[in-house]
Amino acid sequence: MNSFAHWLSTTSPSHAFRVHESWLIPGVQSIHIVGIAVIMGSLFMILLRILGWAGTDQTLRQTTDRFAPWIFGALGLQLVTGIVMIVAEPVRELINFSFWAKMVFVAIGTTLAAIFLYGFPNREQQWDRFVNRRTFKSLAIVTFVIFLCIIVLGRLIAYDHIWGSWSPARQEF
Ligand code: HEM
Repeated sequence: MNSFAHWLSTTSPSHAFRVHESWLIPGVQSIHIVGIAVIMGSLFMILLRILGWAGTDQTLRQTTDRFAPWIFGALGLQLVTGIVMIVAEPVRELINFSFWAKMVFVAIGTTLAAIFLYGFPNREQQWDRFVNRRTFKSLAIVTFVIFLCIIVLGRLIAYDHIWGSWSPARQEF
């Protein structure tokens, strides 16, 4: 990964992004933060519905159909803005424990969200039966907590030294 990260930093797109980094990186990070707000807001609305604390005037299907496009649209936005930040600063991002831990959580969180939103073919009948089960509610809470961990890990990318010897960044600099 080290040699790939160093090679990527010598490419012309990486160089071009760094030439404009004074406005490009803060701009892209700001869009990334807006994406976080959309994902967390939508997940929270679905979680409140599953727990029966809000939106109970709508079926679970109506709630998920309303928020699912925002979640997956924003995840797409995170991927694009994330790739721009990686290409601009590949050594900072790819030689980083927090970054890879975050990507593992993004994969698990996205899979769980997809199971919730698209996993049940005839959802209407099954869900109104499932939604009252403790396991179903617990899985919804776990999914939300996973995305909270993604936020913390995203912020820790800039402070990777806190992982001590786990942080490859320490050996690098
Ligand atoms: C889908 C794939 C994603 C990729 C490739 C990605 C990549 C990145 C990268 C490269 C950074 C910059 C870190 C730095 O240089 O300091 C970052 C920051 C961050 N990311 Fe992501 N990210 C993704 C998804 C997400 C998601 C889903 C969330 C939360 C729901 C998230 C939350 C954050 C946070 C909180 C930061 C720190 C922002 C800041 O300090 O300005 N990311 N991400």
